[in-house]
Amino acid sequence: MSDSSQPQEHHDLVYQVSAGGSLSGDVRVPGDKSISHRSIMLGSLADGITTVDGFLEGEDSLCTLQAFRDMGVSIERPSTGKVVIQGVGMYGLQAPQKTLYLGNSGTSMRLLSGLLAGQKFTSVLTGDSSLIKRPMKRVSEPLKLMGAKLTLQAGGLCPIQIDAAPLHGIDYAMPMASAQVKSCLLLAAMYAEGETRLVEPAPCRDHTERMLQGFGYEVKVNGNEIRIKGGGSLKAGHIDVPSDISSAAFFLVGASICPGADLILRHVGINPTRIGVINILRAMGADIRYLREYVAGGEPVADLQVRYAPLHGIRIDEDQVPLAIDEFPALFIAAACAEGTTVLSGAEELRVKESDRIQTMADGLAVLGISHQVKPDGIEIRGVGAAGKLGSGAINSHGDHRIAMSFTMAALRASGAITILDCNNVATSFPGFAELVNSCGIRLAQRHG
Ligand code: S3P
Repeated sequence: MSDSSQPQEHHDLVYQVSAGGSLSGDVRVPGDKSISHRSIMLGSLADGITTVDGFLEGEDSLCTLQAFRDMGVSIERPSTGKVVIQGVGMYGLQAPQKTLYLGNSGTSMRLLSGLLAGQKFTSVLTGDSSLIKRPMKRVSEPLKLMGAKLTLQAGGLCPIQIDAAPLHGIDYAMPMASAQVKSCLLLAAMYAEGETRLVEPAPCRDHTERMLQGFGYEVKVNGNEIRIKGGGSLKAGHIDVPSDISSAAFFLVGASICPGADLILRHVGINPTRIGVINILRAMGADIRYLREYVAGGEPVADLQVRYAPLHGIRIDEDQVPLAIDEFPALFIAAACAEGTTVLSGAEELRVKESDRIQTMADGLAVLGISHQVKPDGIEIRGVGAAGKLGSGAINSHGDHRIAMSFTMAALRASGAITILDCNNVATSFPGFAELVNSCGIRLAQRHG
């Protein structure tokens, strides 16, 4: 099932970040990745034309966009952040003529597995060298319970082949708090006979539920239980994508650890299932304020102000883990600068992200001389305190965008330059990152080599 037409991967981009600098200004980070993916998926399946503003033009969401073009959907990008989707209706997708290549994007892979399980044609999904190592049984097992026909590689990995099969609703208790698993099953459930009932062990991002409701598809949410019936349809509409709190997180941490920093972040999504990073940073003593709160496209949004404040170590509440799941690399940098020890547990999911984020971060912290102890499900980090400095040196991001961006922020408090290797994948979620941080007072030079 391999495909030689797969794009070539690059791992040669190096960030050279000078020590010190500042973080001030009034900025808007790119659009939310999760919402951007979902806007393409639901917009494509809707009846009518969906328009999207604030779409994330990062490689991950563009992979989703290309996959739907490959299935015959007409999708235009008339200007930056604007997308116009000619919805084909629930049964209007066409069989792709080639393997769908989803790059680095776990969200594309897992959500599309569910959506394609309901189609009347065969499809094959693959991705880059990171994605083909990530666990897919978490979606294939419940999908098979629904009647789906999926063929995975040994060890439950992709490429995944999906053949047409009739689906039926299931009653499923999810073993982990995963929005990708939940969303995969909700998308498959739209094509299933009868009702699907999902129970999540803890709340995790609910953008799929919200967007389905926004497109007029009934989804009943009662605490940790979600119910949806098959056979409905989606009505096209307009989606205003807020800025991604996961991208804002680097700036929230950067300003919190940098004396004199004062930064405004505009139009940031503050969905309660995503604000773990704000809750955790505030518990550590951060000065983060909501300047203006409003609703955009069914999602709560705010302009945020963040100013330097001395941080202290905390034991992170395990309830916050799914709400901050993508923000731990940045939070580890905050912990490294805090007074005292920060303890994270219950976060084993970090080991199966774009890299093993516990180990990759620990290796980088070791380069910076930060004392820490790795545990199977978390880490303990002893911070240097407000008067202390981080060390310097070369760090390998292992192609993980969030590791690269987190160590960029570490340079604000480093004793010497930080070199970060394998930064090409920053483009998966944060196009323009280097330019934006430089405009705020960080000194980041990029080179290939
Ligand atoms: C996402 C869900 C999370 C998150 C990922 C995006 C989504 O993954 O880490 O970056 O858009 O549904 P899990 O569902 O694996 O926790």
